[in-house]
Amino acid sequence: MPLPILVTGGAGYIGSHTCVALIEAGHVPLVLDNLCNSSVESLARVQRITGVRPLWVEGDIRDAALLQRVLAEHRPQAVIHFAGLKAVGESVREPLAYYDNNVGGTTILLQAMQEAGLRNLIFSSSATVYGNPASVPISEDFPRSATNPYGRSKLMIEDILGDLVGADPRWRVARLRYFNPVGAHASGLIGEDPRGIPNNLMPYITQVAVGRLPELQVFGGDWPTPDGTGVRDFIHVMDLAEGHVAALAHLLGEPGMFTVNLGTGQGCSVLQMVQAFERNSGRRVPYRIVPRRAGDIAACWADASAAHRLLHWQARRDLDTICADAWRWQQANPQGLR
Ligand code: NAD
Ligand code: UFG
Repeated sequence: MPLPILVTGGAGYIGSHTCVALIEAGHVPLVLDNLCNSSVESLARVQRITGVRPLWVEGDIRDAALLQRVLAEHRPQAVIHFAGLKAVGESVREPLAYYDNNVGGTTILLQAMQEAGLRNLIFSSSATVYGNPASVPISEDFPRSATNPYGRSKLMIEDILGDLVGADPRWRVARLRYFNPVGAHASGLIGEDPRGIPNNLMPYITQVAVGRLPELQVFGGDWPTPDGTGVRDFIHVMDLAEGHVAALAHLLGEPGMFTVNLGTGQGCSVLQMVQAFERNSGRRVPYRIVPRRAGDIAACWADASAAHRLLHWQARRDLDTICADAWRWQQANPQGLR
């Protein structure tokens, strides 16, 4: 059996889809998750999709002794590090929880890896590190900034990883900046399962369509965009998952650090997304335009050419597939997995 890939946060949204992609590529995922924002049922679903159950450890990345044991016992060849908190609004209210979990948790993980002689890491960064970009599409050399503690935690971790590679060239690090991951596995067995009322557009739309929420509030109809609503780079979560497999192959082949955007390279407005969803679900999504949400930006989409060049990867699933898959998941699991 090949040495496993440690997937922190692997029971979560992007992590569970990445487990599927890893298994399909012949890897063995070893998931470490404290289940603070997920359910272990997602791993049972990964098994239903692939026929393989990921190796599983319930625990926290801030538990150094546990990490030491897991690394010694399983000797993973690399770590894909998804574990972290990700709600922007909550990070403003509870900054310490974000710095502790995201920054503190990552340094404890890096320390344990270093002690175990394991220096291959893929890190989940975010397009949030570009702040309010001066123009679109956004390439990796754009200036970085943060407007909230969540974003600042990602900036800090990116810098910590840069320092680490600078200090010890044996480290191999990928910093992957995700744009807006949406959709679900085509089976409808795994998907995004937010707690409470969703903050993000796509789960909000699917919950309106399934009747859990009355209507969508569109945050702002006066943005400087073609239809006045916000524009984002919505990437199918399975494309994103496959991007990790491509990044892993590159990482294991070459020392050093690389930083790439994982996006489609195309912008889609909130209203375009609503229309695409209605077309693919056959449901109406009632909406109302309300004032802008604090902290939002007009438009954000990736220059995705570096990932294509370096990783030979590009997103291939279109907006219709995103909507059809998100709807299949929502219909089959109206209350999610928890
Ligand atoms: P998610 O909440 O579904 O997954 C994160 C997982 O990490 C959860 O299963 C949670 O239980 C686990 N976790 C959190 N803290 C932990 C800890 N201390 N120890 C062990 N497990 C812990 O979120 P996701 O959407 O799958 O995001 C994964 C990563 O990608 C996060 O780092 C997030 O910041 C980043 N990211 C997400 C998006 C997005 O829009 N979804 C965009 C950019 C970046
Ligand atoms: N929107 C609505 N109504 C809603 C929710 C969202 O109109 O109920 C709009 C937003 O105003 C924005 C667009 O839909 O114009 C997308 O909003 P999301 O909340 O889905 O996503 P964001 O682009 O705001 O942020 C997401 C993650 C961040 C991450 C960023 C870039 O939440 O953590 O993508 O990766 F940093």
